Amino acid sequence: MQLSSGLAEACVVPRRVSSPEEAREVVDAEGAAIVSGIADEEGAIAFGRAMLGADLRRIGRQIEVTRKRGEEESAKVAQQPADARGRKRRFVTDTSLPMPAHNDGFAFGDFAPDRLFLFSERPAATGGESFLIDGVAVLDVLERDPANAQMVEFCRTVDIDHSEPNFPQGTYSSILRTTPAGRPQVRHHPYLAPVAGPDEEAQWPFVRHWTAAVTAARDTGPRFRLEAGEMACVDNYRLFHGRHGHTDPARTLYSIWGWSSAAVAVPAGELDIVMPKAPAQLAG
Ligand SMILES: [Fe+2]
Repeated sequence: MQLSSGLAEACVVPRRVSSPEEAREVVDAEGAAIVSGIADEEGAIAFGRAMLGADLRRIGRQIEVTRKRGEEESAKVAQQPADARGRKRRFVTDTSLPMPAHNDGFAFGDFAPDRLFLFSERPAATGGESFLIDGVAVLDVLERDPANAQMVEFCRTVDIDHSEPNFPQGTYSSILRTTPAGRPQVRHHPYLAPVAGPDEEAQWPFVRHWTAAVTAARDTGPRFRLEAGEMACVDNYRLFHGRHGHTDPARTLYSIWGWSSAAVAVPAGELDIVMPKAPAQLAG
């Protein structure tokens, strides 16, 4: 495996913007923008609604990220069995560790939100900085090294399983794909796996290389702090997000999911991350 230098370049530190219209333009062009002066969760949802305008299809609170909530959900997920390959879902509760870079809603396949709003109600006293990684840029950096040609081709063309253990999505797709609306969608989360079968062993090194590259971008790239009242507006198809470690039990962040008319699929109701339904059951 050849890890390229320069992966830090794939990290995005969003520009500050002042209106929903500007946020929309900057998210479309650069993948993310930060807005400040958001009073509460209701205000955060109202901003997202204004940003998406006539293209809005669905928006709502998805996750209240607090230590207490995380521990409750983690206990439920810990009861879920391993899958046929021995892989198991796990919600990590040790906040001192950096989060794996991920797209939100990865358990829901085509029904994942295309827009994401991360509203910081109360940041950690110290640490807990946010990171954002442009997945298309990670592949572009890797491609500069001819030794990575086969791996990059794999990410662009070979279908893999994006399901979480025991919650099969029933469909496969490549790590990077172009959506029917013509937008790039690139994915990363802790459970990416080759499709089970004869090619599985030969494909694992490519999947592991992808995770190593995304993780190197996280660990070497710039990070930023979301202060109280600030919100990151994110293209959840193109960027992976997360936060670095902290130990503040009072940190509170709201993750709000939005679907625009360009989303691949829009769910009929709120999604349950503890017990994700198969995508076929989500349609309206
Ligand atoms: Fe997230």
